[in-house]
Amino acid sequence: MLDSQNSCQSTYKEIEIGPANSFKNLPCSVAIANEDYFLTQDDAGRHYLLSAVCPHMWGAIAIEDNCFICPDHGWKFNLTEGICINGPRSQMYSINVVNKRGLLFAQFPYR
Ligand code: FES
Repeated sequence: MLDSQNSCQSTYKEIEIGPANSFKNLPCSVAIANEDYFLTQDDAGRHYLLSAVCPHMWGAIAIEDNCFICPDHGWKFNLTEGICINGPRSQMYSINVVNKRGLLFAQFPYR
């Protein structure tokens, strides 16, 4: 049985990223709450917010040669979902993005 007090509580905090049509060239860098991310979009139009912190050992990920790359150990990630393409089964940290009437919001989970 569901606990009625807890069933309505959000498990994430939404932060506005901006109007979807204001991001013309994706992926692009965005800063949210003093943290660096990349906003990306797949062929179906779905947006992704990927942390610029490497999931290996927290290097600073950059865009280079049509992929995301971490210069510390050379892991590369694809430009949509941030899936590692040259190393272990790994993926960039991803924050869910929702589009509400043209405005993009990131849904940061509470911890
Ligand atoms: S810290 Fe990024 S590949 Fe090792």
